[in-house]
Amino acid sequence: MEVVILKDADDVAVHGAALVEAMLRVKPQAVFGFATGGTPRALYRRLAERQRAGEVSFSRSTSFNLDEYLGLPPDSPQSYRAYMRREFFDRVDIDPAATHLPECAPGEDPQRVGPRYEAMIREAGGIDLQILGIGHNGHIGFNEPSSSLASRTRVKTLTPRTLEANSRLFDDDEFQPRLAITMGIATIMEARRILLLATGEAKAAAVAGLVEGPVTAMCPASALQLHERVTVLLDEAAAAKLRHRAYYDLAYRENRALKERFGDFYAAD
Ligand code: F6R
Repeated sequence: MEVVILKDADDVAVHGAALVEAMLRVKPQAVFGFATGGTPRALYRRLAERQRAGEVSFSRSTSFNLDEYLGLPPDSPQSYRAYMRREFFDRVDIDPAATHLPECAPGEDPQRVGPRYEAMIREAGGIDLQILGIGHNGHIGFNEPSSSLASRTRVKTLTPRTLEANSRLFDDDEFQPRLAITMGIATIMEARRILLLATGEAKAAAVAGLVEGPVTAMCPASALQLHERVTVLLDEAAAAKLRHRAYYDLAYRENRALKERFGDFYAAD
């Protein structure tokens, strides 16, 4: 696990965008896994700027989002499809037909969505770069604590803590779904590379669990310790509870020197 600690959330977005661009340089037809939420907003904004400047193009790439609420009316502005359109898809040159979320059509059995989504990811050749945020409780996607580390895309019940964290996005009289369809932890672990972003002190405990805690279903992000190629981008506040911080800084400097000499890390694939 590569842990990169940067000054602030802007630096996290700029650094994250550079890694997405590096992937696109090596593989313009890359398959991305995208996340929603507050954290990746600045990353998406930065990537949209880079696209407008002609520095990057998503025209040949495909995407699969981590999760989608279950039970929202079609075209709800609260859906993760609507979020992705607003924050990213409508601002870049990605083909809308190549963007996927685990959506359940009205009247469809939600239990069928997961296996179908997994098959679509497989048919696309698997995810090259998965972008993740992390919940205060250590969730990735909507894999809440106690989720099986072997889980696949499926319906999940959200915890009261997650409902509360996300309630800021719903008006008082608005229906807030308690269920979602999320990629499973095993699905996420199959991505070839993973880029997790975390900013702000409210994430510090979850980040410590992810990086330095035991691998446990009670902190689903800790499963990433078993993945070969994970980069964790943190601002100072999110890194505040890491015990081995000095070592991560040292290792990052050494790795950067190697990459400057031998080329960036995507080139090895
Ligand atoms: C979003 C997702 C979630 C968020 C997490 C952090 O698609 O799957 O795991 O990444 O809840 O959310 P923010 O960034 O809003 O703190």
